Amino acid sequence: MQFSDITKWQQVETELKIRERQQRAIAELGQRALANTDLSVLMDETVRLVTQVLDVKLGGILELLPGGNILLLQAGVGWHEGFVGSAMAGTEPTSLLGHTLLTSKPVTVDDLRVETRFDGSPLLHNHRVVSGINVTIATQGKAFGIIGAYATQERIFTDDDSYFLQTVANVLALAIERKQSEERLRLMERAIAASSNGIVLTDALQPDNPIIYVNPAFEEITGYQASEVIGQNCRFLQGDKQNQLALDELRNAILEQRDCQVTLRNYRKDGTLFWNELYIAPVFDSLGYLTHFIGVQTDITQRQEALLALRQREEQYRSIVETATEGIWLLNKDNETTFVNQQMANMLGYTTEEMLGKMLFSFMDEEGIAITNANLERRRQGIHEMHDFKFQCKNGSPLWAIVSCAPVFDEQKNYAGVLGMVTNITERKQMEEKLVYQAFYDALTGLPNRVLLMERLGQAIAQVKRHPENLFAVLFLDLDRFKVVNDSLGHAVGDQLLVAIAQRLQSCLRQNDTVARLGGDEFTILLSHIQTIDDATLVAERIHQVLKSPFNLSGYEVFTSASIGIAIGTTQYDQPTDVLRDADTALYRTKEQGKSGHIVFDTAMYEQALALLQLETQLRRAIERQELSVYYQPIVSVSTGAITGFEALVRWHHPQQGMISPDKFIPIAEETGLIVSIGQWVLREACQQLRQWQKQFPAFKSLNINVNLSAKQFSQPNLVKQISQILKETNLAPSSLKLEITESTIMANSETAATVLKQLKAFGVQLCIDDFGTGYSSLAYLHRFPIDVLKIDRSFINQIDSDRERLAIVSAIVTLGSHLGLSVVAEGVETMEQWAQLKLLQCAFAQGYLFSKPLNAEDTGVLLATTLGF
Ligand SMILES: Cc1cc2nc3c(=O)[nH]c(=O)nc-3n(C[C@H](O)[C@H](O)[C@H](O)COP(=O)(O)O)c2cc1C
Repeated sequence: MQFSDITKWQQVETELKIRERQQRAIAELGQRALANTDLSVLMDETVRLVTQVLDVKLGGILELLPGGNILLLQAGVGWHEGFVGSAMAGTEPTSLLGHTLLTSKPVTVDDLRVETRFDGSPLLHNHRVVSGINVTIATQGKAFGIIGAYATQERIFTDDDSYFLQTVANVLALAIERKQSEERLRLMERAIAASSNGIVLTDALQPDNPIIYVNPAFEEITGYQASEVIGQNCRFLQGDKQNQLALDELRNAILEQRDCQVTLRNYRKDGTLFWNELYIAPVFDSLGYLTHFIGVQTDITQRQEALLALRQREEQYRSIVETATEGIWLLNKDNETTFVNQQMANMLGYTTEEMLGKMLFSFMDEEGIAITNANLERRRQGIHEMHDFKFQCKNGSPLWAIVSCAPVFDEQKNYAGVLGMVTNITERKQMEEKLVYQAFYDALTGLPNRVLLMERLGQAIAQVKRHPENLFAVLFLDLDRFKVVNDSLGHAVGDQLLVAIAQRLQSCLRQNDTVARLGGDEFTILLSHIQTIDDATLVAERIHQVLKSPFNLSGYEVFTSASIGIAIGTTQYDQPTDVLRDADTALYRTKEQGKSGHIVFDTAMYEQALALLQLETQLRRAIERQELSVYYQPIVSVSTGAITGFEALVRWHHPQQGMISPDKFIPIAEETGLIVSIGQWVLREACQQLRQWQKQFPAFKSLNINVNLSAKQFSQPNLVKQISQILKETNLAPSSLKLEITESTIMANSETAATVLKQLKAFGVQLCIDDFGTGYSSLAYLHRFPIDVLKIDRSFINQIDSDRERLAIVSAIVTLGSHLGLSVVAEGVETMEQWAQLKLLQCAFAQGYLFSKPLNAEDTGVLLATTLGF
């Protein structure tokens, strides 16, 4: 063997040794890496191993910090004290370390001092590094850092060295990678364990997909421990509810290996229900084969219960809304209907569907729209209100309602519409309207009644005060023959007549005039805005005209006419009653003057009426104050002139006005009914007086007294009793009393007259027809009634000497009297000629100024005494 051979062999042997050491070192490193040693310990050991194997002074691992610009010396051998863990180097591509990071191969430097490829690194330079080898540690294609070995004298690194360091870097990279993924897994586990969702992993490769993992939240939610459930299929959570609809979806998803989400009814270990919102997803391996399923549970029991409670509440509200008797109506901010209940729709005659979406205004008339616009403005201001309102139904009829409306605001406090509660008050309103109508209108004719007339009259008075040139007039109208129609044809026909008259009256008037019925057959017309009296009288004439044509009522042809009193409304009136009073006075006058006319009131009438009223008051007092007295006018025998009796006549001596004529006050007494008490008083007074004279002058014991009986007295039910009472009281023989009754009194009471007269007659009182010849032309009653005396009216007597016809009448009456056995008295005899005629006609008795005027009791006593020659 040659020397060179020996040297070569030695070299080979050395190389083999080195290689063997390197391989051992790598095996050792691999074992350490697998032994799950802490990474920093592993890096320290790796650096120590590398420096030993490569036999260099310095070795280190520099980790690339996040950002990629700085390398930190994490582990090392041979560095100055304190450098490991803190020394840093830049990664500029011009530096050795920066260049290494950019290269995937080991970078060796034989002599840094002469190196031209890179700049010298301060870190290496400070440690007098001359040669070195660097390799990038790459994990999953990313640089983790650099591992390097450095010598302080010149050293050539071989390919074996490079290979060795590269292998070390690879082993280290694997170890780092493993450590990193272990770390990630731990994090994931932490996340899964910390999740509030229940998480289940099942093994899809085993039969029936058993659970292989559950997290603590699963245990929390279900109440089962992991150990109790691992190996089971999840369906145990369903209790006996394994036929839920959602399970079909789940089964299909599992079958089709896709993810899905369902909500399931599950039961906890303690048996209580919980709602499980379950998401499952398949897990595939790197070859795309299904290996697992992952399930994520969310316990939505609270949410579900809240939802159910909400639905229940909604259901409750719905049933309240639908059973409410009120209508409920919801509008949006544009006044469109967004909800109505059935009641509301029924009230208006629509279906709920017809109403939805329609504007509120579609359900009201124009007046309603104007009111509603104002109301809605107040809703926008947040005002809650209640008011009466008139809607319009589908068929056009009104719906009266009380509406309670509240504004609605959304969560941002913006106006969102109105909620209305509607109560139907149509019936009540109609009733109110009817009551109002009844209060102001006459039920029979439909004309305004007294109340409404007075109201309008009040307005007319106010109007004329503002505009004195615009007069008004009131026409008071009274039907002339209404009582006859009512009595003969019955009330029903009478009512028809009133209705027909109402219509004819209205036809005579303008729109603004009022015709009112005040009751009975009294109509009143208010003419507004007239210029002259003629305007009113023209209307009156028109009325007379339209009433002229006959009315055809239930087959009867009825004629009627009216008397009209007119009052012209000027500024002098303050009260409606004053106007009516004056029209009434004028009406009274019209009637006095005959029927079917009209008279316009003037102030003279008023004064007259007032005077009459005063007279009435004074007459009432006159009786109390004994201002009345009885006068006596002798009745004489025509043949002898001897006094046979007297007619008692009432006189009123007024303390201020002196004697007031009976013509003036007797009609008032008649009208007011005072005549009854006056008549009674006169009767008593006269009977008493006669009885006294009879006693005083026995020669005159057959004297008679004539007392007038008015129509009112005659109709007194206890008349006979009253008279007998007076006769008894005064002790006068009934035959001395002659009651004078007019024909008209008898005829007005024709039904009862016969009975009353018979009773009086039976009593012994004599009966005398007063004013005979002026009243009824029929003589038939003369024999029907038990009459004793006829008194021929003065109108015949005072002309018998000049008027032959009158003479003939008087003659006929005297003859009639004698034939019927009645005595006849001529009234009003004033002249000797008249007396002579009466004598010729053989009239038995006479009365008049020729013989004596009426005298007071005292003077009459004197007369009697004188006659007897006292
Ligand atoms: C990952 C995963 C998680 C599941 N979690 C639940 C669960 O929490 N509750 C449940 O009732 N079912 C769960 N199931 C569904 C049942 O295991 C089963 O697939 C379902 O009852 C239908 O199958 P079956 O008809 O054989 O019961 C889950 C299924 C998988 C794959």
